[in-house]
Amino acid sequence: MLEKVKAIKAEIENFNVKNQEALEAFRLQFISRKSVIAKLFAGLKDITPEKKREAGILLNNLKNTAQKKFKELTAQLNQTTKEVEACQEIEDLTLPPPADGIGALHPLTITQAKIVAIFKRIGFNVSEGPEIEDDWHNFTALNFPKHHPARAMQDTFFISQDPEIVLRTHTSSVQVRVMESQQPPIRTISPGRVFRNEAVSARTHCVFHQVEGLYIDTHVSFADLKETLFYFAREMFGQDTKTRFRASYFPFTEPSAEMDINCRICKGAGCNVCKYTGWVEIIGAGMVDPQVLENCNMDAQAYTGFAFGMGIERIAMLKYQINDLRLFTENDIQFLKQFVALDLSFPALARANKREKI
Ligand code: DAH
Repeated sequence: MLEKVKAIKAEIENFNVKNQEALEAFRLQFISRKSVIAKLFAGLKDITPEKKREAGILLNNLKNTAQKKFKELTAQLNQTTKEVEACQEIEDLTLPPPADGIGALHPLTITQAKIVAIFKRIGFNVSEGPEIEDDWHNFTALNFPKHHPARAMQDTFFISQDPEIVLRTHTSSVQVRVMESQQPPIRTISPGRVFRNEAVSARTHCVFHQVEGLYIDTHVSFADLKETLFYFAREMFGQDTKTRFRASYFPFTEPSAEMDINCRICKGAGCNVCKYTGWVEIIGAGMVDPQVLENCNMDAQAYTGFAFGMGIERIAMLKYQINDLRLFTENDIQFLKQFVALDLSFPALARANKREKI
């Protein structure tokens, strides 16, 4: 009997299964009530009482071995089946490749489009100028004479000394170009990229974006400027937005002002974005200095106007609670993906998305 048990044990241990049928064969042979092991148990009754105990232990061991092996084989077979199924799922090489995910507009593109849309609703058109600009349009026409200390407010990248060519430091250069080439009434906004020789940090960058605004007509007043900017702030940030004007200085406007809104990030409680004041500056503005009108060949007796300028990054940061300027240029897909849903409010993109799904 010992020999027989050894042989069965070896057979069990060497057993391999490739499919369900083989597993069932194992079960019938070693586990079921008609198995070889069951038969051996049945034979115990013919053994002498002295040897019965020893044989019983031997058979129980054998039975345990068989059951353990059966469990192992079952688990093994399940695993293999899962793997095969998974392979079959992905390895149909005749299938077309999975479609790319829908892209998102960049948050700065979205913000710029929103700003443009808000001003278009009240009759402004869009104008553009070059990023590489001459000294006249970037500085001199805007009342920054040579060696004027106000030039130092904007650290400039110079392209050449003679003639003096710079990377524009602000989009105010476009208002000069518009005034030189058009007659009032002028209502225009000029979005674009600007450059300053600044270290890159969470709050400053050497390349950023601005939107310039210009309104020239007869009888344009400071009250018009305030109402226009109040309207913009409420449209952009919500009807509950609080605004305040502070006196300021720019060479090309007189009087000059800056507009603050209540901080959208901490809601006035105080945070590092508003430097714990509850207010954030978003726009520089003022009445166009008559000298600037003259510089652009406009009749400063007949016309008045206001101008304003804002940083698109700043608006986007407040609108979408972004606390680091560098995020805009890092191309981190996790960051950019968050703006997919926002795109859908743009009819053109919603249409494009629909087309892509077909
Ligand atoms: N050009 C200014 C800047 O870059 C912003 C600005 C201020 C523009 C006042 C304007 C203005 O048109 O009236 O800081």
